[in-house]
Amino acid sequence: MKVLLIGGGGREHALGWKIAQSPKLSKLYLAPGNPGLNQFGSPVDLSDTDIDGITKFAVEKSIDLVVVGPEAPLALGLGDKIRAAGIACFGPDKAAAELESSKSFMKDVCGAAGAPTADYGKFTEAGAAKAFLARQTPPYVIKADGLAAGKGVVVTEDKQEAEAAIDEMLAGRFGAAGATIVIEEFMHGEEASFFVVTDGVSIAPLIAAQDHKRAFDGDEGPNTGGMGAYSPTPVFTDTVRRRTMNEIVSPIVNEMRSRGTPYQGVLYFGLMIENEAPRLVEINARFGDPECQVIMRRMESDILPLLFAAATNTLSGQKTSWRDDAAALVVYAANGYPEKYEKGSAIAGVDAANAIDGVEVFHAGTRIENGALVSAGGRVLNVTATGASIKDAVARAYEAINEIDWSDGFYRKDIGWRAING
Ligand code: AMP
Ligand code: GLY
Repeated sequence: MKVLLIGGGGREHALGWKIAQSPKLSKLYLAPGNPGLNQFGSPVDLSDTDIDGITKFAVEKSIDLVVVGPEAPLALGLGDKIRAAGIACFGPDKAAAELESSKSFMKDVCGAAGAPTADYGKFTEAGAAKAFLARQTPPYVIKADGLAAGKGVVVTEDKQEAEAAIDEMLAGRFGAAGATIVIEEFMHGEEASFFVVTDGVSIAPLIAAQDHKRAFDGDEGPNTGGMGAYSPTPVFTDTVRRRTMNEIVSPIVNEMRSRGTPYQGVLYFGLMIENEAPRLVEINARFGDPECQVIMRRMESDILPLLFAAATNTLSGQKTSWRDDAAALVVYAANGYPEKYEKGSAIAGVDAANAIDGVEVFHAGTRIENGALVSAGGRVLNVTATGASIKDAVARAYEAINEIDWSDGFYRKDIGWRAING
C-alpha cells in the first residue's frame, strides 16, 4: 500500500513510526515530514495546508491512502478533495471537521445527540458576553469559537481577567477564530482523552490517554498544546469507558451521519470525569498531540488495516490489540513557550536518549541547519518511554531527557503525577 502522511510534528512522527512497521506498506511519502520522521519515508516539499498541491501529488503517485495528522488541512477541506480525486483518505470532510473547528457547532451537535457537556452561551458582542458572564460563578471559562492551536481558552477565577479575555478575543487576538466566543460553565473532575476510529457507521474504540495542558509543574501557568502525556489513565475505568461509548461517542457519530455529514477518521473526545460520570469538554477531528504518541507506543496491532478500513467504509469487525505496558511522554519545549520563544538553537544527545531501552524520541519542532539538528518550534522534542507501570515509563523518559543536551529548552518534571500519586 502506498501511503501519504500529512503533517510534520511529533504526532506525525509517531504515526509514521507505527505505519512503517506495517507489512502492508510498500511506500511512505511525507508531506512535509521532519528530521526524525524522514527515516521512515520520502519527504515531499509540500506544506500540510497546500491542499491542491497535496491532491495533485497523491494522484500523480497513485497513492492508496492519505493519512491526515493535523486539523488545519481538514478544516480547509483536504478530506473532500482527496476523496473527490478517488483516493481513500483517513480524515473527515470539512463539514464533519467542524466538530473541532467550531466549538459552537460541537455544542449544537452535543445538544441534538443528548451528549453531556457544559452549559454555554455564544457571543459576537462584548456587552452581551459580559452580561452573561455576570450571571456565572467562578471559575470562568472563555473560548474562541474557532481553531487557535489549543491556546484560545481562558480559565480564570478572576472576573476582570475573564472580561479582558472577552475583549481581547473579540478584538481579534486569535483573528477570525475569536470573532465568535463561547462562555461555558466550569466542570469539575479529572480530564482524560479518549480516541475512537470510525467510518461514519462502525466505531473501533482505541484507548485513553491523559495530557498535561498547563506549561509548568503542578498544572500551573498558561494552557499549551500539551506538555506531556501518559496511558493508561486510571480515571478511565471500564464504567467510564462504557458510559462514554453509550452516552457520548455513539450518539455523536449517529448524529453526524443523520445530518448527512458522516464522520470518517479519528475522533478525540476530551472528557471531564467526576464520580465515573464523563462529560464532554471538547472534540477534535484528529489524534491528540502529544496523546497520539503514547497511544502509538501501546498499539500492538497493525495500524494500516485500521486506517484503511475507516477510510473505505469497511471498519465493521476491525480489531485492535494493545500492549500491557504503560507509555509516558515528556515534551521538551523552547524557553518561553507557549508565548514568545527563539528558534535555531543546537540540540545534541538525541541518539543517546534513543539508545535507552524502551525509549523513542519523536521530533515535534526541529530542523536540520548546516547538517546539525536545531530547534524550530515551541514544542521541540517528545521523549517517550514504555515501562511496566506509568511510574516506570515516566522514570525512563526522564532518564532519556537527561541525555539530551539543549540549552534553550524546558520541560515539566511531574508528568504523570496524578496517576503515580493517586
Ligand atoms: P479546550 O481547548 O476546549 O480543550 O480547553 C482547554 C482546557 O481548558 C481543557 O483541557 C480543560 O482543562 C479546560 N477547560 C475547558 N473547558 C472547560 C470547562 N467547561 N470546565 C472546566 N475546564 C475546562
Ligand atoms: N493535546 C491536546 C490536543 O492535541 O489538542
